[in-house]
Amino acid sequence: MKLTKKQMSGVRLESITKQWQNYTLGTIDLDIPDGELWTFVGPSGCGKSTILRLIAGLEEATTGNIYIGDRCVNHVPPRDRDVAMVFQNYALYPHMTVLENLSFGLKMRKIDPQTRRDRVLAVAQSLGLENLLQRKPAQLSGGQQQRVALGRAIVRQPQVFLLDEPLSNLDAQLRDSTRAELKLLHQQLQTTMIYVTHDQTEAMTLADRIVVLDQGKIQQIASPEAIYRQPINKMVATFMGNPPMNILPGVAVADGVKIGDEVLALQTPVASGQALDVGVRPEDLTFAPQELSLPITVKLTELLGAEKLVHGYVQGFPSLELLVKTKHQDPGERIYFAPDRVYLFDSTTGRRLD
Ligand SMILES: Nc1ncnc2c1ncn2[C@@H]1O[C@H](COP(=O)(O)OP(=O)(O)OP(=O)(O)O)[C@@H](O)[C@H]1O
Ligand SMILES: [Mg+2]
Repeated sequence: MKLTKKQMSGVRLESITKQWQNYTLGTIDLDIPDGELWTFVGPSGCGKSTILRLIAGLEEATTGNIYIGDRCVNHVPPRDRDVAMVFQNYALYPHMTVLENLSFGLKMRKIDPQTRRDRVLAVAQSLGLENLLQRKPAQLSGGQQQRVALGRAIVRQPQVFLLDEPLSNLDAQLRDSTRAELKLLHQQLQTTMIYVTHDQTEAMTLADRIVVLDQGKIQQIASPEAIYRQPINKMVATFMGNPPMNILPGVAVADGVKIGDEVLALQTPVASGQALDVGVRPEDLTFAPQELSLPITVKLTELLGAEKLVHGYVQGFPSLELLVKTKHQDPGERIYFAPDRVYLFDSTTGRRLD
């Protein structure tokens, strides 16, 4: 049996807010087309899980409408929303075998035994669980347990998958491989998926689109590439990227931006005298001479394998710290900027200016 999807279902959130005594989420507007995989990313407490729980029906919105496919689900109870949710702390039934864990939800929904069996076997095969079906959860590794938890959601053939940090219990290596499996699985199933994570690598590698959240508000919705290359503000710019983008506070002057004692010859859209922040990613700095440069004092060089990470600061200004990622170069006296990879931000609002 092939794994197939049932029907077309995007997810739409219209003017959603959620008000608690001392926390307000929203206003959230989202329109996720059928079959896409979107990731929600942002610092702890920004509202990622709450949005998932609202879609699943585990929380009720204070205002606004939620649609799954064409159906407004505001008053539809969770079990009738046809979504499957996988939590960070997936709880498998410890006394049941893998086979029973996978079949249980279908049994509860009174799916006939033959269909049940077909679906469970197809899912077990696609997740590499065929040889583990008779084991109990305690006899599985963390990664295998994680796959059973995913499998339990997949056999239900929901219209939408809601995944809340499903890989966060795994070690780094297993996380990488399970992430890749999940991406393949999505290509195969083509079911709408919303994937919550605070791991930006996961957000980048999995997503058709990324939603960056901060303090209960959407900062930006865009493709991974656009989030990385055209961040809308300083929060998005510094959150995505590892190590993060360097931010150098400066002041607009007639011929550029003054940073420390030197002027970087950048065109700015603001009046002379206005404070602004210059942003540049560690990999967009180089020790090979180019037009734009600043003098640098190097504090430390770390070898990362194929690359070196150089820690330094603008000469004479220890608070103006810089990280440089370079492949082969030895640090020099000046650091050079890739001219089309420099960003300007309003230092008060954080909005991007260039
Ligand atoms: N039942 C509740 N009552 C009051 N406040 C709540 C409730 N549930 C969540 N919150 C608040 O809502 C905010 C968002 O929480 P949420 O769990 O959505 O964050 P998150 O982005 O998933 O964070 P994390 O990455 O830590 O999981 C937090 O400030 C939290 O304290
Ligand atoms: Mg959460």
